[in-house]
Amino acid sequence: MNKSYIALASIICCIGQPAYSYEKGDWMVRGGITAVTPNDSSNHVNVAGTDLGIGVNVDSNSQLGLNILYFYTPKLAVELLAATPFSHDIGLDTVGDLGSTKHLPPTLSLNYYFLEPSAAFQPYVGAGLNYTIFFEEEFTSANTEAGFSNLELDNSFGLAAQIGFDYTIDEKWSINTSVRWIDIDTEATFDLNGAAGSVDVEIDPLVYSVMLGYRF
Ligand code: NI
Repeated sequence: MNKSYIALASIICCIGQPAYSYEKGDWMVRGGITAVTPNDSSNHVNVAGTDLGIGVNVDSNSQLGLNILYFYTPKLAVELLAATPFSHDIGLDTVGDLGSTKHLPPTLSLNYYFLEPSAAFQPYVGAGLNYTIFFEEEFTSANTEAGFSNLELDNSFGLAAQIGFDYTIDEKWSINTSVRWIDIDTEATFDLNGAAGSVDVEIDPLVYSVMLGYRF
């Protein structure tokens, strides 16, 4: 084997085994689709002290999701989840549509990558905190005509946990998928023909993301 052949062989060998290690001080931005799928349960709706005997439900929604990560070490990154506003229909069990709400669920997590930093496949686990801001809560026009008004959902502060992985394509680009559980609980308050109503709702969604990542 002459020297140039060995040099060529060593280049070919290493094309298949790139070392795109995460490094301390790296930033990563990911963008893609994020779906919020509620695992909801509620107590019964109460109006002026009367239990109506039925609860409410919340449907799923997908939006553009954004992650910003900072690597404190090659294995430990802080991540912020942001998204365009989610919009959910709220239903009254066995009756039908009640109204809708929008929300933003910013979530701050500490992610731990447990394989070697040079691996292309980078699974991680993360835990953190969520603050969910509800806005533009409204009843359907039929319910508004029936006397429902002033729908308001309390903002929620709770724990979040996730698993996911990055798959490194090259030095800068990666693909990512993750699933998170977020503890989101709220109290909805409203008026019905002048009487005060309320219902407690646990939304506790699973949040799925598929994203493209860019590291710099
Ligand atoms: Ni909960």
